[in-house]
Amino acid sequence: MHQPPIALRRHLSLRQLEVFTAIARLGSFTKAAQALHLTQPTVSVQIKKLNDAVGMALFEQVGKRIYLTEVGQALYGTCREMFDTLERFEMTVANMKGLTQGRLRLAVVTTAKYFAPRLLGGFCERFPGVDASLKVTNRERVLERLQDNQDDLYIYGLPPAGVDVEAVSFLRNPLVALASLDHPLARRARVPLAEFAGYPFLAREPGSGTRRAVERMLREHGLALKVRLELGSNEAIKQSVAAGMGVSVLSQHTLVGGAEGLCLLDVQGFPIERQWYLVYPKGKQLSVAGAAFKDYLLEEGSRIAGTAARRTGARGGKTR
Ligand code: PGA
Repeated sequence: MHQPPIALRRHLSLRQLEVFTAIARLGSFTKAAQALHLTQPTVSVQIKKLNDAVGMALFEQVGKRIYLTEVGQALYGTCREMFDTLERFEMTVANMKGLTQGRLRLAVVTTAKYFAPRLLGGFCERFPGVDASLKVTNRERVLERLQDNQDDLYIYGLPPAGVDVEAVSFLRNPLVALASLDHPLARRARVPLAEFAGYPFLAREPGSGTRRAVERMLREHGLALKVRLELGSNEAIKQSVAAGMGVSVLSQHTLVGGAEGLCLLDVQGFPIERQWYLVYPKGKQLSVAGAAFKDYLLEEGSRIAGTAARRTGARGGKTR
């Protein structure tokens, strides 16, 4: 007689599937444990139980890396569908409750950290029931998170190419040329771009949106950066520029927290006019909190974040 399928449901838990999905997504037990705030032994025990329930190994280790087995891949597909369905249910519940409860997950590129917390703060004040989280990381990682559907909304300086997204601009993002106060260009007006490009440049890391914008602008004029030093932080660049190590180009928003020792240069073609964009995957059904944040940003974004951007302390060059 045909054997009935084993009633897996009775032997596995949602928590085990959550742990399994995190490992499959991140490709590592350690990273999954960190992401879920669990210890590594707990993660291993959960996976052992899940393996036993399924009766087949879900992962295999080759060298230092782990891979999903065939049955592991099938389970991963099932879990994704299941968690998507559960998330839609959560959304329905949140809809029914209105905004008295809900969750908002926002991921933003490095430079947006100068205004995103203020925006989120204002939003949480208006909707105290919403449980909000903010992830700040570089452009490449934010893109990975978007492709993985890990957050509700994303903020970029340039919408990602090659992915189908909705992108709404909500705020100016001028990129300004900077040098130390005693730099030879500090008191000059209308400095030719080629002259500026001739000075040693302190650049953000490859993959930074700011860096891409500057490189593109110079390329359009047949010029290239003379990178003296690469730094993965806007603050480190500000300090190094003030110390006279070179010139740089940063978003005006980075000057909000202080611009001591820095001079805004009057270089032809600057500021580079850019915008901040709120982005989410095309076709994504926004949660109530996500939709409310989008509306809030479009209504209040430029007032809240823009005011701060205008309050920078950098000294202007001769013409400012
Ligand atoms: P960045 O991105 O912080 O990675 O430079 C900002 C931007 O894209 O404008």
